[in-house]
Amino acid sequence: MALVTGASRGIGKGIAKKLASEGMIVIGTSRSQSGIKIINNYLKNNGTSFILNTVNVNSIKNSIKNIYKNFENIDILINNIGIVEDKLLINMTHKTWEKVLNTNLNSLFHISKPIVQKMIKKRNGKIVTIGSIMGNIGNCGQTNYSASKSGILGFHRSLALEVASKGICVNVISPGFIETKMTKRLTKFQKMKYLSKIPLKRFGTINEISETVSFLVSDRVNYITGQVIHINGGMYMP
Ligand SMILES: NC(=O)c1ccc[n+]([C@@H]2O[C@H](COP(=O)([O-])OP(=O)(O)OC[C@H]3O[C@@H](n4cnc5c(N)ncnc54)[C@H](OP(=O)(O)O)[C@@H]3O)[C@@H](O)[C@H]2O)c1
Repeated sequence: MALVTGASRGIGKGIAKKLASEGMIVIGTSRSQSGIKIINNYLKNNGTSFILNTVNVNSIKNSIKNIYKNFENIDILINNIGIVEDKLLINMTHKTWEKVLNTNLNSLFHISKPIVQKMIKKRNGKIVTIGSIMGNIGNCGQTNYSASKSGILGFHRSLALEVASKGICVNVISPGFIETKMTKRLTKFQKMKYLSKIPLKRFGTINEISETVSFLVSDRVNYITGQVIHINGGMYMP
């Protein structure tokens, strides 16, 4: 069974659909009833959905409890929830800083902890978290987003070390620019500027992310852990 957070649209939806198409039972999450409806519509009999809102710690805890009440095992956790709220640091409010850090980074602690505890008992599990190229290279107007995505890297390297002996693999997929609602907001000028920095001269597709997730969580792959897989058309080469 796979849990995909933020599965109502974009990359999360692509991942949930891909895993379901491969025969997995998938649970997708959204903050809203309309998101829940969307997820149930595309998952059909291959899974279901639960409300999960990361702005409130108790609501996260209750959502995970609720999922475990209905499903005994989560074998695969895909942490996909992420938001941007861009402003230059000098104009950024504390509220905006906290909102992005809480949603993108702090939520990982509250979602992963109870699930890892259960995975350890089963001595089996795969965790993939969606990071971002901005966690490596930074971006003007994204001190909050970049900090959250850099934090994800340290979190996962440490977690990979903590749980490797328990048979749990933990990796990060770090996309560059992917065609989604998030990138639709870019102005023509911003798009041209970014494309000029991408050697493959195009944005990536959701499919290119979900294929890699599917590879990492498959039974064929059990010796990759603590890694950051970059999918960015060559924009950043570590
Ligand atoms: N698009 C890109 O180019 C790109 C590049 C690099 C990394 N990424 C990363 O990829 C991931 C997905 O991005 P995307 O472009 O697919 O984003 P998106 O289309 O905006 O989707 C975001 C998802 O997260 C959920 N979500 C947002 N805030 C939430 C909250 N407070 N609590 C619970 N769920 C919340 C949304 O669910 P509801 O609205 O239904 O509640 C939605 O399903 C993010 O981590 C993002 O940082 C994206």
